[in-house]
Amino acid sequence: MLMIQSGNPAEIQTECLVVPVCEDVDIHPDPAIAGSIHLIENIREFKGGKEDEVVLYRPQGLRADRVMFIGIGRHAKIDAECLRRISGRAVKECIRKNIENMVFCAPDAGKISLDASTMLTSLLEGAFLANHVFDHYKQEKKCKPLKKIIVHTNAVTGRAGSSLARQVKTVCSATIMAREWVSMPPNEKRPDRFVRSIHKAAEKEKIDITVMDEQSLRKNGMGAILAVGAGSRSRPRMIILDYDPGKRGKRSNNAGTVVLVGKGVTFDSGGINLKTPSGLEDMKMDMAGAAAVAATLIAMSRLKAGFRIIGVIPVVENMLSGDASRPGDIIKTFSGKTVEITNTDAEGRLILIDAMGYAIKHYKPDLMIDLATLTGACVVALGEKIAGVFSPDPALAQAIVSAGEATHERCWTMPMPDDYREMMKSEFADLKNAASNRWGGAITAALFLADFVGDTRWAHIDIAGPAYIKKEGPYCPAGGTGFGVRLMVETLQRLM
Ligand code: BES
Ligand code: ZN
Ligand code: ZN
Repeated sequence: MLMIQSGNPAEIQTECLVVPVCEDVDIHPDPAIAGSIHLIENIREFKGGKEDEVVLYRPQGLRADRVMFIGIGRHAKIDAECLRRISGRAVKECIRKNIENMVFCAPDAGKISLDASTMLTSLLEGAFLANHVFDHYKQEKKCKPLKKIIVHTNAVTGRAGSSLARQVKTVCSATIMAREWVSMPPNEKRPDRFVRSIHKAAEKEKIDITVMDEQSLRKNGMGAILAVGAGSRSRPRMIILDYDPGKRGKRSNNAGTVVLVGKGVTFDSGGINLKTPSGLEDMKMDMAGAAAVAATLIAMSRLKAGFRIIGVIPVVENMLSGDASRPGDIIKTFSGKTVEITNTDAEGRLILIDAMGYAIKHYKPDLMIDLATLTGACVVALGEKIAGVFSPDPALAQAIVSAGEATHERCWTMPMPDDYREMMKSEFADLKNAASNRWGGAITAALFLADFVGDTRWAHIDIAGPAYIKKEGPYCPAGGTGFGVRLMVETLQRLM
């Protein structure tokens, strides 16, 4: 349970009252809280610094079982991300102590120069996301998530923020859904099962679902998806999630149509161009774009968005077998263009072009965004925490970057130089799927995609870096990060 509450903090009965303390400025409005900070004034090891923490048990003047003071650092450095981290840290600390419920005392929004809604949203997000424990595959469950998380604030702020908790819960539980799909082992999410899992999650929402099986993919001329899926016993699929408020009589359809496309490679072995062993086990995360798109659709439907959103998700397993595609193969894509497969490990762009071509033809979107763990080159360029954004439309790229600043899903605009398209030309087919040299690999991949979107307003987000972490982060366990879900919700809410 996630809630915002107000009232006299001295009266709060909880296992753990969390009080963030700033190094150089008093950020709490309430005298009872300020008074409790007096209690620790002379404790040498606590200065309010970023790593500092001290716990008092049954302190005088408060009804909480314990008060956990956590350092938040310098006042000038407090921003939304700092608040996510601090509430996340508090939750993780409580989980370690086997505590079931916690009340977090929000600072005074005015005193930290953030608006009240940003302040509360950030605290709620950090806490809710940090409460996600991924231990389905462990026999011993060491960490139990908290049952109840309350953010405590003054009455005025609390009133304005009462719907925030619901919104945060919706978006962050979708984020966690995406994380769980990404972290799921690849033997449990081969295309057929992954698609069924998406189906199961989406059918509870006001979303129309279509699953295209191999036969239907063939009938529709999706040669690229079929070629990538050819090596796996688990046959390729494409699942389409259609959220259409107009259809349900709520709003007219002229609000516009968005298509989101997500790369769904449930395991990327590289195919005949087999990857090297190091980190191969992490290639279960190559469906993170698909997971983010499915989760975003679910979140937007729960938020009752006023425009149509269609998630188009091609799902394949990139494997080797006697039937797998070979380097040198030439395939016919949905668009009619032929592609020479020069590298079977550049499979993501192949499934995306068929999915995007299909989406453009059937839904004529006003806006299309694809999310994909597309290239290692993007990780080389921007590191593991920043996604690359590519778009022929600079305003669209900037809108995504700005949304990412708000959600702390950092994005950086990458160039799409026209002359680099040269590198994707083939001697034998209309295009090849991998450039002859590896330089600028994230860019050549984006340029390849661009060849199949016509003049649709489109952006491509390469999330190969930030989709997955090997070690836990401040409010995310090791595994899938859910990168892209909050980002897309924020982007669409701003643009549509
Ligand atoms: N799924 C990978 C990209 C990737 C790499 C994702 C690291 C996450 C972490 C993609 O299919 C791939 O293998 N791309 C190749 C393209 C190359 C063969 C042109 C790459 O980046 O090396
Ligand atoms: Zn690959
Ligand atoms: Zn891949």
